[in-house]
Amino acid sequence: MNKPVVFLSSLACLAIVLLTSCGRDANDPGTEFMPDMYRSPAYAVYSANPNFTDSLTMQTPVKGTIPRGYTFFSYPSTLEGYEAAGRDVKNPLLFTAENLAEGQRLYGIFCTHCHGEAGQGDGNLVAIGKFPPPPSYSAGNSSRGGLVKDLSDGKIFHTITYGVNLMGPHASQLNPEERWKITMYVHQLQGTAATPVGADSTATKDSSNATAMAK
Ligand code: HEC
Repeated sequence: MNKPVVFLSSLACLAIVLLTSCGRDANDPGTEFMPDMYRSPAYAVYSANPNFTDSLTMQTPVKGTIPRGYTFFSYPSTLEGYEAAGRDVKNPLLFTAENLAEGQRLYGIFCTHCHGEAGQGDGNLVAIGKFPPPPSYSAGNSSRGGLVKDLSDGKIFHTITYGVNLMGPHASQLNPEERWKITMYVHQLQGTAATPVGADSTATKDSSNATAMAK
């Protein structure tokens, strides 16, 4: 073979290699010799999926699905729902020093700026004139009748869940367990709380309540 032919054919080979080695789909591994399960065959969360009629890999949960550990509070955001919850619902958590301390901590984050540290309706937002004072937990009147001091577990939980008038709902910020811990602490501020279990051997509230997590 003469030299120019060898030169030209190797140039052609190089051109073929260069042209075929680019321009592919970046996600396509091409032809592999023994891939050895290097790449997972799983569909990526947002990739199209031919196995489902809606072509989505990430399927929406079946209607009525609830997260694990979720508890229902089936009282509506109405005055009747508030009264019914106040009558029927009891705090499912045991009244312990830890639950109370956690309630106090959460209260400090979510409620103090309006209600004040001691629940007197003198929080920071009120002090700087940005918000009208909420009623005192121990001495105020509830806009829904009666004294705030007498509000039961269910009424306080209902209020934290749905809010009332100027107070917004807190269901998206606080899960039910956290709301129950805060409810416990609000009783403390109302001046009506008993002594936590464990802090005093004469404490009366028994653990049977702990099984009755609100619906
Ligand atoms: C933005 C200010 C604000 C925040 C934050 C806030 N509240 Fe209130 N809260 C109010 C106001 C105002 C009222 C009085 C509303 C009314 O009855 O018209 C009120 C009323 C209440 C009542 C009395 C309900 C009744 O039935 O009369 C309770 C109990 C209560 N809040 C608890 C809480 C708890 C617990 C938190 C924290 C999780 C909280 N609030 C956060 C402003 C607030």
